[in-house]
Amino acid sequence: MSSDPSRTSAQACHFQELGVQNRNGPDLTPGKEQPSRLAAIREGPPINAVEHIRRNRGGSQSHLLKCSDGKYYVVKFPNNPQGKRTLVNEMLCGFLATKLALPVPSSVVVQVDQDLIQRSEQMFLDLPDGRARLQAGACFGSEHPGPDKDIYDSWPERRLDEISNLADFAGMLVFDIWTSNNDFRQVLFFRRDDKSQHRVAMVDNGFCFRATEWAFKDKPRLAMYPLTYVYKSISRIESFEPWLTKLESEMNRATIAEALARVPKEWYRRELTPLKKLLAQLEKRRAEVRHQILSLVATSWRLFPNWSEAHSTMHSSADRRAVAASASG
Ligand SMILES: Nc1ncnc2c1ncn2[C@@H]1O[C@H](COP(=O)(O)OP(=O)(O)OP(=O)(O)O)[C@@H](O)[C@H]1O
Ligand SMILES: [Mg+2]
Repeated sequence: MSSDPSRTSAQACHFQELGVQNRNGPDLTPGKEQPSRLAAIREGPPINAVEHIRRNRGGSQSHLLKCSDGKYYVVKFPNNPQGKRTLVNEMLCGFLATKLALPVPSSVVVQVDQDLIQRSEQMFLDLPDGRARLQAGACFGSEHPGPDKDIYDSWPERRLDEISNLADFAGMLVFDIWTSNNDFRQVLFFRRDDKSQHRVAMVDNGFCFRATEWAFKDKPRLAMYPLTYVYKSISRIESFEPWLTKLESEMNRATIAEALARVPKEWYRRELTPLKKLLAQLEKRRAEVRHQILSLVATSWRLFPNWSEAHSTMHSSADRRAVAASASG
């Protein structure tokens, strides 16, 4: 296998371990990095799609579009095969993850005109019974670094120390457990320019809230990034702490309502009741995430080989034994 990280454009994700295991992995101490510059929460003039760049692989059949603000976005359409609810999920989670200081690309509403769809030969949906027209109007956009950038969806273990915000994997796990992500964590590695270090950005939140179920089920192992060596240096509950504390103290009803205000009403107009129920549960389950993390560590201890009870000051070992017992029972 090549020693270079795999490019997303060149090959599908391959999730076996790459390279020699590094027991003295990079420092996962949180708080050393500023949130990504991509992670601004946007408000302002509408963003219109102006040019089709290419189709993307993936179940939602998204497209890379250039937009009126001069930026590029991966755009998912309201009639995408994964369902309209996944757009609501993307928008809510993009906002909430940004509020938690996680490295997610900007999440915006992109207006796509019928005209552009008709002009572009590649802008259609591939359905089992043939081609279908993409629905124009308000679409979900996730900011893309640009088509000329090298972007990788995996990274070799022996080069993890080149990733400047590796600690954010712990934070994203907090988020994915909170939102019951029903898909493995999808990430991208890239750098903004030749002088900066590579960073990880977290993408694809469409399957949070168990995709179109809009429900919660605690399966924390499922939502981890498949190359689990990125978690190896996590040694204590404090590795998760900045995000856990923020989640418990700041992601309250008002913040969740602010997230909902960013979602175009046409994506959920006839579904306000289940959506409100979902968001009420989301607020309530903040308190359970800490327990879920400890339960995950107890049951998947091989993934956290450096975990040290002695270093963890947040919970007594009696607490952790109780968590382990409840997880195994
Ligand atoms: N902000 C972004 N910047 C760069 N690439 C992105 C971004 N968001 C998504 N992608 C890429 O676009 C493709 C589709 O994105 P995404 O995974 O969100 O949609 P999907 O259709 O649900 O895909 P899948 O079914 O494979 O999970 C993927 O290759 C992903 O890596
Ligand atoms: Mg995906």
